[in-house]
Amino acid sequence: MLQLRDAQPVAVRREDYAAPAWWIDTVDLTFDLDPAKTRVLNRMRMRRNTDVPVQPLRLDGDELNLARVLVNGQGASFRMEGDQLVIDALPDAFELEIFTTCCPAKNTKLMGLFVSEDTFFTQCEAEGFRRITYFLDRPDVMASYQVMLRANRSAYPVLLSNGNLVEQGDLPEGRHYAKWVDPFKKPSYLFALVAGKLVAREQRIKARNGKEHLLQVYVRSGDLDKTEHAMNSLIHSIAWDEARFGLPLDLDRFMIVATSDFNMGAMENKGLNIFNTKYVLANQATATDADYSNIESVVGHEYFHNWSGDRVTCRDWFQLSLKEGLTVFRDQEFSQDLCADASARAVKRIEDVRVLRTSQFPEDAGPMAHPVRPDSYIEISNFYTVTIYEKGAEVVRMMQTLVGRKGFARGITLYFERHDGHAVTCDDFAQAIADANPESELAALLPQFKRWYSQAGTPRVATQGHYDAVARTYTLNFTQSCAPTPGQSIKEPFVIPVTLGLLAQDGQELTLHLAGDEDADAVRSHTLVLTQQHESVTFNGIDSEPVPSILRGFSAPVRLDFEYTDAQLLTLLANDPDPFNRWEAGQRLALRSAISLITSGADVVGTTTLNDAFVDAMRGVLRNPTLDSAFKELVLTLPSETYIAEQLEVVDPQRVHAVREAMRAQLATALFSDWEWAYEQNQDTGAYNPDPLSAGRRALAGLALVNLCLAARASGDSVWPGKTLQRFKDAGNMTDRFNALNALVSSGHALAQQALARFHAIFKNEALVIDKWFSLQAGSPDRGGNVLALVKQLMKHPDFSLKNPNRARSVIFSYCSANPGAFHRADAAGYVWWSDRVIELDAINPQVAARLARALDRWSKLAEPYRSAAREAIARIAARPDLSKDTQEVVTRALA
Ligand code: PHE
Ligand code: ZN
Repeated sequence: MLQLRDAQPVAVRREDYAAPAWWIDTVDLTFDLDPAKTRVLNRMRMRRNTDVPVQPLRLDGDELNLARVLVNGQGASFRMEGDQLVIDALPDAFELEIFTTCCPAKNTKLMGLFVSEDTFFTQCEAEGFRRITYFLDRPDVMASYQVMLRANRSAYPVLLSNGNLVEQGDLPEGRHYAKWVDPFKKPSYLFALVAGKLVAREQRIKARNGKEHLLQVYVRSGDLDKTEHAMNSLIHSIAWDEARFGLPLDLDRFMIVATSDFNMGAMENKGLNIFNTKYVLANQATATDADYSNIESVVGHEYFHNWSGDRVTCRDWFQLSLKEGLTVFRDQEFSQDLCADASARAVKRIEDVRVLRTSQFPEDAGPMAHPVRPDSYIEISNFYTVTIYEKGAEVVRMMQTLVGRKGFARGITLYFERHDGHAVTCDDFAQAIADANPESELAALLPQFKRWYSQAGTPRVATQGHYDAVARTYTLNFTQSCAPTPGQSIKEPFVIPVTLGLLAQDGQELTLHLAGDEDADAVRSHTLVLTQQHESVTFNGIDSEPVPSILRGFSAPVRLDFEYTDAQLLTLLANDPDPFNRWEAGQRLALRSAISLITSGADVVGTTTLNDAFVDAMRGVLRNPTLDSAFKELVLTLPSETYIAEQLEVVDPQRVHAVREAMRAQLATALFSDWEWAYEQNQDTGAYNPDPLSAGRRALAGLALVNLCLAARASGDSVWPGKTLQRFKDAGNMTDRFNALNALVSSGHALAQQALARFHAIFKNEALVIDKWFSLQAGSPDRGGNVLALVKQLMKHPDFSLKNPNRARSVIFSYCSANPGAFHRADAAGYVWWSDRVIELDAINPQVAARLARALDRWSKLAEPYRSAAREAIARIAARPDLSKDTQEVVTRALA
């Protein structure tokens, strides 16, 4: 028989949104859990949506075996249209019963119901519920759920679902059951169940109103000693959301469960958050400070979704940033508010901006660029992006800047008052914030402000300063622009809040007197709201040409161009009271040196890249007695290769790598005794504490070790590598141990091998630590062109598994996405290997494959021979006949 190839997948378009033709009021699910064949009985009360024209019922399904369909208890006639189950001629209200089976053990996509280490888990966002039963699998259909779970008691002693446990007991043949009722209506993507051998850390807390809540963190029994930090993070999150936004915990019981097989970080299922183990498990022996801090923000993030996502959800998936942008903003604010002081808060802000600029800016300039509220998609899983999440959070942050912190809290209150229990849009959110602040600039500019939702691309703000000595005025002229992105050739001006200040040449901050606004209070920082393509601002009473500090705190997600002189940047680096711009000045200086050498064509070897003034300034920061270690570590870290590459028209990745390595080597050698001093100064005595202050000290000590080992590499000295190995052996916590290991590996020292072997031996039973072990090696500098061979070797290691996403990422992504110097090979072998891995992964787990497929998003910027070779590798993937629509969408867009 002739088999036709599937039609091209069709795009879903935002403008085609239509309300559902049917509502589901209640869902009564019964699961007979079995890894090979799970039976699912789904009884729904449904009713016609009388607001829309009469239509048949179309239920979504995916890889289900359908056994029976009953309407009001009677066998009903239905038909299949592709994956949809269609029933015509239905009464206005009825009970529908659907009986299906599925095979969780074979579910390698990890969407729907799957098995991980003998435990059942579900993942339903965005469209996984249809892999469990036929359903109206869209977020605007909200129903009340009750769930009966039945399974073998000894294999699956713990049975969990959303809401409250209302009944449990034994069944014949060694089985048992548990019945759960969720008191809140929810869309199907928030459904969850877990069944397996798990243990829980428990804590009872009392809320402000006196209500008691049970908090639980479920893990495998050997991991109970790694749950304290997650539990504390949850408790802090609950308190913070009440204190900052008046949003209380609305459930008697709140559960977190960890699984080692998970495509993403974590999932906010109502009352039953499911987490990647990476964002739950931590003790000082196995987790780094970065892990601790990630756990805190991911636990916070998922908890905050309980309101921003669960109580108020998205009308359709184009509104994804409604919950994700807002919730990232909330978790960023949470982490900042937990900081002890302004310096630690600034460090957190710099880290967040660094993520935005190294990941989201390239996305916004590449083939996958899309607005914060996209207009179309082929596979929604491809739109869980840094644009939806991080840029979406910046858009919310700008709203807060425009209405003030108190005004923003009022806006949030109004948003939840208006929309509680509903599925709404990004417009609804912006409207609520504006309506709660009718006198604000946001309210005045709302339609224009919302271009941040509709227009893709990173705006550029070109700024020029003009000092008039006679009039004693200083004028800044701004010109905003935004490059075309796929499907959007013309961009209208954005609303851009630009927070700025002025420094005198001696570094003193000036008081601002705005021309035309003489009554305004004298301030040192002013937020100018740009709305036009060209705009200017003038300051009066300026005695000599000042140094402008523009875009303080990164007040808008834009690229700021200003022709600073080196002297001006050095002034900012030494004096700017705004820590963000102080850091930024150092980054600009480093970037400038890097770019001038990269584009000069001069030999890298033997060229001194960084000038003395820069090196002295770095020494000044390192030795500065008033700055925190965490901030110093950020300043002393050079801009990443990815960030440098983004500033270039044409990228020779090997040259970028060589130049940055040369700069690193120079800083290591030139500041040798300063690094020694910094290392000694930042030794912690006393008990391990992951708080930002101590973590900053460890981070700076770690950077110092890397530099000391690098310098030793150049000088041939073996003292510091020896000390580093000793530190590796003696370390009392994973941060210090891993930093030492990293210093040996990244400097390519011979001692690295024995340290790696020892590390593996100590931690062979700690999966998350073994991920670090793989990742460090796959990400190591490619001094002899050997890293690809090493990566191939690592994939043959008995601990490697392609099916486990964390493990796959630890080797493949660490090489392809995080090791540009090793990946971009002139012989194209890195790209060919990448395309094979995408194809191989696509057959197992399309979501993970599609993410890997994005590693060459920026191929068109590459210099030859990389450019052609990269294109060929992408085309090689695109030519495969059986690609998932996930991967197909990514490679098709890359080649467009
Ligand atoms: N909604 C989850 C979060 O941001 C992320 C996620 C998306 C997890 C899709 C799984 C699948 O918290
Ligand atoms: Zn989220």
